[in-house]
Amino acid sequence: MSLVIFSKVHKVKPWIEALKKEAPDIEVMAYDEVEDKSKVLFALAWNHPRGIFKDYPNLKCVSSMGAGVDHIMTDPDIPEQVKVVRIVDPLLSQDLAEFALALIMNHMRGITHYKLLQQDSKWKKSMYLRISEVNVGIMGTGMIGNHVAEFLRSCGFSVAGWGKNPGNPGNYPRYYGSDQLDDFLQKTNILICLLPLTPDTQGILNKETLKKLPYGAYVINLGRGGHMVDNDLMETLNSGHLAGASLDVFEHEPLPSDHPFWKHPQIHITPHIASLTTAASVAPQIIENYRRAVSDKPLLNVANKEKGY
Ligand code: GLV
Repeated sequence: MSLVIFSKVHKVKPWIEALKKEAPDIEVMAYDEVEDKSKVLFALAWNHPRGIFKDYPNLKCVSSMGAGVDHIMTDPDIPEQVKVVRIVDPLLSQDLAEFALALIMNHMRGITHYKLLQQDSKWKKSMYLRISEVNVGIMGTGMIGNHVAEFLRSCGFSVAGWGKNPGNPGNYPRYYGSDQLDDFLQKTNILICLLPLTPDTQGILNKETLKKLPYGAYVINLGRGGHMVDNDLMETLNSGHLAGASLDVFEHEPLPSDHPFWKHPQIHITPHIASLTTAASVAPQIIENYRRAVSDKPLLNVANKEKGY
């Protein structure tokens, strides 16, 4: 039986090395090396070729190579009996929290703004925002969102969260459901999207929701490109309602070179680097799930196919 990596975007070698180091007894390979598909029990995937998994008759599990499983769930050809699992790595949550802080501080203290002025040898002061003056609103209060919220709270930010369901009470105000969304948005100066992408959250950052944010608010999207309605963001920025946006995720990645986001002066773009999975850090949980799959034991971090995350 073997564990096979289905990704065209990751360099496969470091993953194979990390997995073999963790479990020298397990056969690990890239999908284009597979000779006998019936021997494949476990798939590790990131943006796999659509429809491919139905050709593997003994596949029991598809594991995401990251926290999100939307790239797997949106494939209509995942066989019914195949379980989908995700990576849960505290390192990824911390990476996201640190990146969110960097983007917030960049906005509040105008770091990129002054770099741009420097290019024209311009000495021009503007007032800045203080931590005590802003309310951060986090959309998505699952494990990752909660970690980011607690981290920002520990830096002194006033934080609120919004999620689809109430979830566990936290140390900060939590809003939930569509009824409480407006209230949450109206109190948010810096919005961070960390939601999973599901049919319910697709396009949730649109002109109606963005306009509910107070004048001068700032938006950070670290969820998925599908959360944002691109034209609506442009419109809300161009109307002067929003101060700016930092985007790490896009509907189509890499972001096409003719996309208007690239040239927009108030949009800060990064190439989906908020948290990058480190193979060595997650190899133990992947191997653990492989062994559980072999012996038909319950898997860890199983995604709910109904909910989509
Ligand atoms: C990154 O986007 C991930 O899902 O881990």
